[in-house]
Amino acid sequence: MKTAQVYKKEPFYDPLLLVNRSHALENPSETPAGLVDVSTFMPVMPGQKVYLLFPAASALKALLDHLDAKGVITAVSGWRSFSEQVNIYKDSLIENGEEFTKKYVAWPGCSEHETGLAIDLGLTMENMDFIRPWFPYDGICETFRNLAPSYGFILRYAKEKENVTGISHEPWHFRYVGTPHSEIITQKGLCLEEYIENINKKNNPQG
Ligand code: DAL
Ligand code: ZN
Repeated sequence: MKTAQVYKKEPFYDPLLLVNRSHALENPSETPAGLVDVSTFMPVMPGQKVYLLFPAASALKALLDHLDAKGVITAVSGWRSFSEQVNIYKDSLIENGEEFTKKYVAWPGCSEHETGLAIDLGLTMENMDFIRPWFPYDGICETFRNLAPSYGFILRYAKEKENVTGISHEPWHFRYVGTPHSEIITQKGLCLEEYIENINKKNNPQG
């Protein structure tokens, strides 16, 4: 009799997965399957390796191709392992203190970066900031931001949603949720927490 071979199941995250301080990843120590090295199509901050899950990476490449601005936008941080997030949190506590760290670094196990669906981007320049890269509301960055929803990305941490997301305004952090979700979320001015809550209410009106 043949025995079936069982392979370890690696996660491939649902693009609508909600990850925040009250929604931790179930298995934060697992590496998602299908990570793509974005340095194959865009600049990456020196000293960093930046990976995204395949659907997010291909949408980002398509958006950058549309912009036709190769080299102007740099990938700063993509997928992070749990231990990388722990180190970023610890280092930031030492360098920037607790108040800053709680605002700009998610608690390990609770960061979207651990899914491979989020990316931090910066305008290409010397001496880029790893935690808060410069991604201004004008020029090529603003054009990118306006196009992002058509390619499945949302600006995840808006100023007016800080009390819902628990994270301060991050003009550089983009989260892949896929279309049409990205377009609806942006048009309605929602954050991901509110969008998921609306879906849950529709699916379970008695809830
Ligand atoms: N900067 C975001 C909140 C993170 O660390 O996941
Ligand atoms: Zn980020």
